[in-house]
Amino acid sequence: MLWTASLCVLWASSVLGAPVNNEKQKVLLISFDGFRWDYDRDVDTPNLDQMAEDGVKALYVTPPYLTITSPTHFTLLTGRYIENHGVIHNMFFNTTTGEKKSYYQSQFVDQWWDNGTLPIWITAQRQGLKAGSLHFPGTASSYQGQFVMHKEVEPQLYNYKNETAWRENTDKVMSWFRDKNVNFVSFYFGEPDGTGHRYGPDSNERREMVKQVDRTVGYIRQSAERHGLTHRLNIIITSDHGMSTVYRNGLVEEITLSKIPGFSFGDLSFHLVDYGPSGMLSPKPGRLEAVYNALKGAHPHLHVYKKEDVPEHLRFTKNDRILPIILWADPGYVINGYFPVQFNKGEHGYDNQAMDMKPFFRAVGPAFHKNLKVGPFETVNIYPLMCHILGIEPEVNDGHLDATKHMLVTSTAARAESSSHRKYMKNAFTGLAAVAGFLVIVFAAAVVQRLLKQKRKTKRSGSLRDLPEKEDAHQTPF
Ligand SMILES: *[C@@H]1O[C@H](CO)[C@@H](O)[C@H](O)[C@H]1NC(C)=O
Ligand SMILES: *[C@@H]1O[C@H](CO)[C@@H](O)[C@H](O)[C@H]1NC(C)=O
Ligand SMILES: *[C@@H]1O[C@H](CO)[C@@H](O)[C@H](O)[C@H]1NC(C)=O
Ligand SMILES: [Zn+2]
Repeated sequence: MLWTASLCVLWASSVLGAPVNNEKQKVLLISFDGFRWDYDRDVDTPNLDQMAEDGVKALYVTPPYLTITSPTHFTLLTGRYIENHGVIHNMFFNTTTGEKKSYYQSQFVDQWWDNGTLPIWITAQRQGLKAGSLHFPGTASSYQGQFVMHKEVEPQLYNYKNETAWRENTDKVMSWFRDKNVNFVSFYFGEPDGTGHRYGPDSNERREMVKQVDRTVGYIRQSAERHGLTHRLNIIITSDHGMSTVYRNGLVEEITLSKIPGFSFGDLSFHLVDYGPSGMLSPKPGRLEAVYNALKGAHPHLHVYKKEDVPEHLRFTKNDRILPIILWADPGYVINGYFPVQFNKGEHGYDNQAMDMKPFFRAVGPAFHKNLKVGPFETVNIYPLMCHILGIEPEVNDGHLDATKHMLVTSTAARAESSSHRKYMKNAFTGLAAVAGFLVIVFAAAVVQRLLKQKRKTKRSGSLRDLPEKEDAHQTPF
């Protein structure tokens, strides 16, 4: 009976102790820039297929508008819509001075990125975890004075297509996880975006690049295994936006602002055009109506909105950095300023409802179900999912765990919940263990007393030899 009681206490402590187990799960967030949701449909992708079998595949995900690289990547890192995190364009600009910086130069403008929203690296680090980032947009900047702990920023004229470098970078990231005990890494590849722009999403070159991505996905999973990480590492692979074929050469009537009757660049104090299908304009004082009226309805595939009237589903209005007039074109078109200077065969930056703008999404690891296909969800929801797996308290964000929780195995949900309630669980455990210990002592004392009584009655003592030992065992502090 005593033995049974001890077993009960051991069982109770192990059951209660399990959630406090602190072998934390790790997360690797990978972005293959411009990987459209359906790029695996016309190419053999054995490694992506295997990953779907071993984990979760979403039909597609919906990026935030504006569907360009820096803004949408910052949404992955923060769970906020673009109007809320403030990185509203790839280019830093100043409407007063007219200064514009390129995508690459803008990476180093802290004030552009650090506009009130913390990326997951900083939040994780503030809560005692370690974070890293390789080439991911936003990596070069500091946030409220803090940088991501382990970081690598690509040089200015970087060859984003080099498969050998992709493998070297993969091994570097895995060694951060293994040797530096990093909990979270964001990892960026510049393809198939580059190839999609240059040759178009329907080109053979794009299909070849998707094969290279697929080989790399296989390499990434192999490398995780070689580094002994498989049982702790969750790998999420997604993208920032898709890609759409651009028509020109007489196939369509191009959109060129300078040719629109009644429109004049002289009415503008600042403009951002010749950037794919999107544009933003600042009219000179008193010229807003003139500019708006000239452009509105001027081309059947050009959308013209005053900032405050932008359709709600785009969530691209509530930010001081957004200029008073917003333009975007339908898929197939780009917006030219003075004359056509854009020659890409593929573009993105369109309405995020356009199917061509939807990225892919895969996830594999101990937190995720196996062989599960899920419906589409917005990319703002990836941030709360990652925080949940890491067991950190998220910042204020626009995502919802409810949108992605069904991808997780139940024990991960329990573990992540317990980590945010670790203190409570520890207290509860100590309390319950104390109660259990006390009950065992009371129970044992009663048993001993009863046995002693029986022995006295029968005047037999042989069976009591082991009593003192058991009394010692009661001293064990639970
Ligand atoms: C733009 O430049 C002006 C003049 O240098 C400066 O006062 C202002 O703070 C700048 N604004 C931004 C958003 O950088
Ligand atoms: C965000 O940037 C704008 C200028 O672009 C600035 O006026 C504003 O104060 C910044 N907000 C924060 C919280 O950094
Ligand atoms: C590709 O990357 C490898 C490893 O970093 C480097 O040695 C090689 O020179 C690169 N090749 C090209 C064509 O950039
Ligand atoms: Zn991109």
